[in-house]
Amino acid sequence: MVFSENRPNSRNNFVFFYKVGPFLAILDKVGKNKEQMGYFEEIQEAKRFIQDKFNATPQIGVVLGSGLGAFAESFADATTISYGDIPHFAQSGVVGHAGELVLGELNGVTCAVMSGRVHFYEGFDMQKVTFPMRVLKALGCESILITNAAGSMNENFAPGDIMMITDHINMTGDNPLSGPNDERLGPRFPDMSTAYGPKGQAALKTAAAEMDLNLRQGVYVGLRGPSYETPAEIRMFRTLGVDAVGMSTVAEVIVAQHSGMDVAGLSILTNNAAGFNAEPLSHDEVKETADRVKGVLIELLNKSVKHLACP
Ligand code: HPA
Repeated sequence: MVFSENRPNSRNNFVFFYKVGPFLAILDKVGKNKEQMGYFEEIQEAKRFIQDKFNATPQIGVVLGSGLGAFAESFADATTISYGDIPHFAQSGVVGHAGELVLGELNGVTCAVMSGRVHFYEGFDMQKVTFPMRVLKALGCESILITNAAGSMNENFAPGDIMMITDHINMTGDNPLSGPNDERLGPRFPDMSTAYGPKGQAALKTAAAEMDLNLRQGVYVGLRGPSYETPAEIRMFRTLGVDAVGMSTVAEVIVAQHSGMDVAGLSILTNNAAGFNAEPLSHDEVKETADRVKGVLIELLNKSVKHLACP
């Protein structure tokens, strides 16, 4: 009879608790240990995973923004690791972000290149967004060259121009350092007055001069996104002295500064910001412009990496 077969019976309960129970307890313990692994230990685990596949020490880290992944193809002999394979790395779902860590040598400089990044607007918290910065530092990177695609709100600039970031405004509404501070990673209150420091700026300027490139300079505002800005927001930022707007970079720069890395920042001005043109903004325009300037950008990154490593 079906009814009686489904009834709990004391012999079955005995088998469950004494045979299956111990295995469940072990699984529970493994799960708890995993939960207890701190951020610092997660960084070390990701670092060891990468070092198992690539045993040289990268000097320079590079972060490639939307549609800017072509630079990662410059390496003659590279080790490529998908973010999905690296413990605790998040993977971006955004088109134009490859999601690979590319390690190799470029002009005699060992580099770790993040081809694509994850964003705050994808729903990841700031610690997850900036986790790769921590790992790059743990791997040995002394400097980081961060790139992004951005909208321009400076009338003297045009889509396709490349801007050296001289400073930023964090308008994401969050900070990757909020919460308890781990002194092994950096100080509680890091100074941000020279976040885009003289070393990074000098490397970019020297590289641009060698190419006869009109490298723009300006202030970047980082927003949470993912909606583009309204024209009124852009007018506000222009009044505040902003030149370019985007949805990344500021959290990474805060963490790079916290961890003691030199930072160089580049915005590829892929479009005029909202309100400048009659046409609506689109991610396609961002990708098209990024694609158009990729040759110039690759050359600039190549040269900048060399000057960052050997100032
Ligand atoms: N706004 C915000 N983020 C961007 C833009 C923009 O106009 N262009 C590329 N990323």
